[in-house]
Amino acid sequence: MNIDYNERIPNNVDLASNRTLTRALEQWQPQFLRWWGEIGPLDTRELDVYLRTAVSAVPNGWANYDYVKMRDYRWGIFLAPMEPERKVNFGAHKGEPAWQEVPGEYRANLRRLIVTQGDTEPASVEQQRHLGRTCPSLYDLRNLYQVNVEEGRHLWAMAYLLHAFFGRDGRDEAQALLERRSGDSDNPRILGAFNEPTPDWLSFFMFTFFTDRDGKYQLCSLAESGFDPLSRTCRFMLTEEAHHMFIGESGMTRIVQRTCDAIAACDSDDPATLRAQGVIDLATLQRYLNLHFSVTMDLFGSDVSSNAATFYSTGLKGRFEETKIDDDHALTDADYPILEVRDGRLVATKAPALNALNEKLRDDYICDANAGISRWNRIIDKVGIGARLKAPHKAFNRRIGPLAGASVDPDGNVVSAEAWEANRDCWLPTAADRAFVASLMGRVVEPGKFASWIAPPARGVNLRPVDFEYVRFG
Ligand SMILES: [Fe+2]
Ligand SMILES: [Fe+2]
Repeated sequence: MNIDYNERIPNNVDLASNRTLTRALEQWQPQFLRWWGEIGPLDTRELDVYLRTAVSAVPNGWANYDYVKMRDYRWGIFLAPMEPERKVNFGAHKGEPAWQEVPGEYRANLRRLIVTQGDTEPASVEQQRHLGRTCPSLYDLRNLYQVNVEEGRHLWAMAYLLHAFFGRDGRDEAQALLERRSGDSDNPRILGAFNEPTPDWLSFFMFTFFTDRDGKYQLCSLAESGFDPLSRTCRFMLTEEAHHMFIGESGMTRIVQRTCDAIAACDSDDPATLRAQGVIDLATLQRYLNLHFSVTMDLFGSDVSSNAATFYSTGLKGRFEETKIDDDHALTDADYPILEVRDGRLVATKAPALNALNEKLRDDYICDANAGISRWNRIIDKVGIGARLKAPHKAFNRRIGPLAGASVDPDGNVVSAEAWEANRDCWLPTAADRAFVASLMGRVVEPGKFASWIAPPARGVNLRPVDFEYVRFG
């Protein structure tokens, strides 16, 4: 499974044996590079960045670290090793050998799943392109660029599937992935959260914690797919995704740590006192958390969805850890609780489990996100104040699904639309919060130095010291 870097497009799929596909991808490659140059990370042309590159797709020891110029990064096509005897593990085709080609009758749905996933990858690069100008340290700058190049590689992963398995339509879709733009009113990215700006580093860490974690759950479901090339692609992408979530979780941990250090030093958790120290008060962190959590909730889609049912029963998209679940993997008679507003309250009702798969994945995600938040709370506990960070209720601030019309507070109480509006500034970031956070975003590029609002990491990248020169300015 070693990756051939002598090829123009590094790959472990024996691209050289397929001349037509090679030619198609070699035409897409310069367009990808043009997209990267136009809308990818700003001011990076001459930088040498200490980045990891995949050298093998085998778990453990797949990464090589070295200084790389961003535009020379070796984007390519890496699939996890084939599992001999792999089967379709759920739905109507359960027990059949996994498909190595696209079943004709599922072609349109499969393409749609791949395009929707693929569209998020370049979107996040576009959303984050300005952040290098306000980095809190060289360590963080390097991490941002690592995420950016890997999201670029995820785009390659999906573009490969489109080119290799979907003929002319696939080539058109791969082209369109380079044409949509995050936040563009004429030609936006497909999903709402990927058209929101990521204006500051607090938003970046929230995004990598919450929204990249949605990526993990989507990829895990697609890794269960009966279409084997999609499964193998997603399994390798997940090794990269884990690092993005580490950056989000550890970034937030360091912010909370810095805030708690200031609370201890000032003997006060008063927001104005803390802000005067150049740190972000816990109430502001909570409002950002409420926003990013709720925007990410919507990414899972409508609570009840006939598309989700179809994707599952046709074997295209499974559940999180499908093969570890002890049931019939057909879900024909099962049901699943979903929420409804009745008599001014949220109540659980039953929906057919097949149709409630978005809700099930959302609930799996919430457990995982809560585990991370509770780790931040352990830091807060140590300073002996009663405060807690908390995920808002999943019905709070929704824009998609039946709960979109409801006014639900962060604790899950249904309130009047007026009461909701009156409390908006307590629950979601205000213009003043954003202005304060923006005011903290200086540019810190001296090795080993960190901005006032974030603690240094416990250790550096790849056993390098924290004050290592992670980015060299040419
Ligand atoms: Fe990604
Ligand atoms: Fe990611």
